[in-house]
Amino acid sequence: MQQTLSYDVLILGSGAAGLTLALCLPERYRIALASKGPLSEGSTLYAQGGVSAALDKTDSVESHIEDTLDAGAGLCDPRAVRYVVEQGPNSIRWLIAQGVHFTRDYESNDSGAYHLTREGGHSHRRVVHADDVTGREIETTLEKLVRARTNVTVLEQHIAVDLITAAKLGLSEPRCHGAYLLDRRTQHVHTIGARHVVLATGGANKVYLYTTNPDSSSGDGIAMAWRAGCRVANMEFMQFHPTCLFHPAAKSFLISEAVRGEGGKLLLPDGTPFMHKFDTREEMAPRDIVARAIDHEMKRLGSDHVLLDISHKPKTFIQEHFPTIYARCLSYGYDMAEGPIPVVPAAHYTCGGALTDLRGRTDLPGLYAIGETAYTGLHGANRMASNSLLECIVFGNAAALDIADANDGPQHPRDLLKWDESRVTDSDEEVVVSHNWSELRHFMWDYVGIVRTNKRLKRALSRAELLLHEIEEYYGNFRITGDLIELRNLTQVAKLIIQSAIQRKESRGLHYTLDYPEVDNQNSPQSTVLVPPNFAANHQAVNWEIP
Ligand code: FAD
Ligand code: SIN
Repeated sequence: MQQTLSYDVLILGSGAAGLTLALCLPERYRIALASKGPLSEGSTLYAQGGVSAALDKTDSVESHIEDTLDAGAGLCDPRAVRYVVEQGPNSIRWLIAQGVHFTRDYESNDSGAYHLTREGGHSHRRVVHADDVTGREIETTLEKLVRARTNVTVLEQHIAVDLITAAKLGLSEPRCHGAYLLDRRTQHVHTIGARHVVLATGGANKVYLYTTNPDSSSGDGIAMAWRAGCRVANMEFMQFHPTCLFHPAAKSFLISEAVRGEGGKLLLPDGTPFMHKFDTREEMAPRDIVARAIDHEMKRLGSDHVLLDISHKPKTFIQEHFPTIYARCLSYGYDMAEGPIPVVPAAHYTCGGALTDLRGRTDLPGLYAIGETAYTGLHGANRMASNSLLECIVFGNAAALDIADANDGPQHPRDLLKWDESRVTDSDEEVVVSHNWSELRHFMWDYVGIVRTNKRLKRALSRAELLLHEIEEYYGNFRITGDLIELRNLTQVAKLIIQSAIQRKESRGLHYTLDYPEVDNQNSPQSTVLVPPNFAANHQAVNWEIP
């Protein structure tokens, strides 16, 4: 049966961002926390490397800021970078206080010290981690705490379909009043009203054929925000992780950048090192540079992979630092301690997203976006490794503070429009959805990948528009399913990625095009901000200028 429910705060997404917010909100709030699969499933669960923060005595906040700005290739908002980085050490302390166990540094004289690893772009060791399963440790620890909260109602297997906005209800004061959620077990769409709605739905990396991300990363929050009239920024900057295991059964299993941080070398298939040709930082250059170098060498040689070698380190060192990665590679027949493993890049992180201010507020009053769904200004044109879990913690907390400051916010209207289930019938053509999924992910990989051209982008745009048209027609006629909702969102986000890429007439950070191979040094760096057709001038409009 369809239900109408009401909460103070509706959080869509239960990764690091959503869970942090749920735990930081005052316990007097009645909160609904929705996830479209099991509560723990999302990118957070699979994070390996760690969380960055300037904790070492030789390190500093200023140095972390400088590295982040450098990786972001001129497009980070310095205020956002400072805001997040300054909260790094406290965020780690907060996680530890919640019960997260990070790996200790047993070689340090300080018995309380945590082991700090290194990753690309960082000039210091500054990444705290829980062996090579940091995300699992964070997600499962926070999940347990949230489940114990009596003020939090957990709605697993509930996929948000769309937001309920004032405009949809025919009201003049712009505001988000809730969301429609499809219960995947009963197939009913429930109407959830809330004073505050938070998008914490993760990234959109499933838009590509090969990705390190779980299936949940279908850009739902970005697409919903866009449809609700919010601006999105910098969608052309999709990050490709340089090293995933190249094996048909491994499903783009990530080989953490920490492997290179601890001395792993990239080699051509004949064993020749090559990173020195591309950057003086070699294997420790920021990700965009390393992924592009690998792509270049693979294309030059017609090879389907390169190699990653850490076998010069003792076996015990490898097993201690990377127990999960070591075991997983072994299960595919590769012993990292004995020789190099084959690796390829894959889509990994969505640097752009729904535009927010430093409290996670989007353009629409009552609607927040936090975590990978948001564009806060932190990552600019390229996210530095291990800065995103930090961003989730910082902005989960920031949104909680803002919601608490908002004096509860206005109650949603009593009569929320229910989802109309009467006019739709079951589809007899599920193949249309699966075919379109596959087509989308193939052309995004081929035309909108690591290296782009005007011609490829134009081709991709016309295909995305065609698909979007077909999907909208299908969406209007048949009963909705999880797959259809995700396909609709992914296609919308694909169009935003392509449009943003077409707008940028230069190569910068993660966006590289053969038609404009240089950085535009004539003009000051600009973010790409897309404005939806229903953007209302009287929206709260994120209250700071973006670069
Ligand atoms: P997620 O953790 O992805 O959670 C998204 C949530 O939203 C899920 O609960 C999902 O069910 C829910 N959801 C989505 N759509 C809907 C919908 N329509 N309705 C209801 N719920 C919905 N970053 C680092 O900083 N350090 C690392 O070491 C690191 N390693 C990584 C390794 C891998 C393999 C991957 C994939 C990513 C890694 N990252 C790392 C990136 C980082 O993990 C993610 O950016 C971060 O976890 C995102 O957290 P999130 O809370 O925004 O979203
Ligand atoms: C990794 O461990 O290489 C992933 C780190 C990140 O994406 O921040």
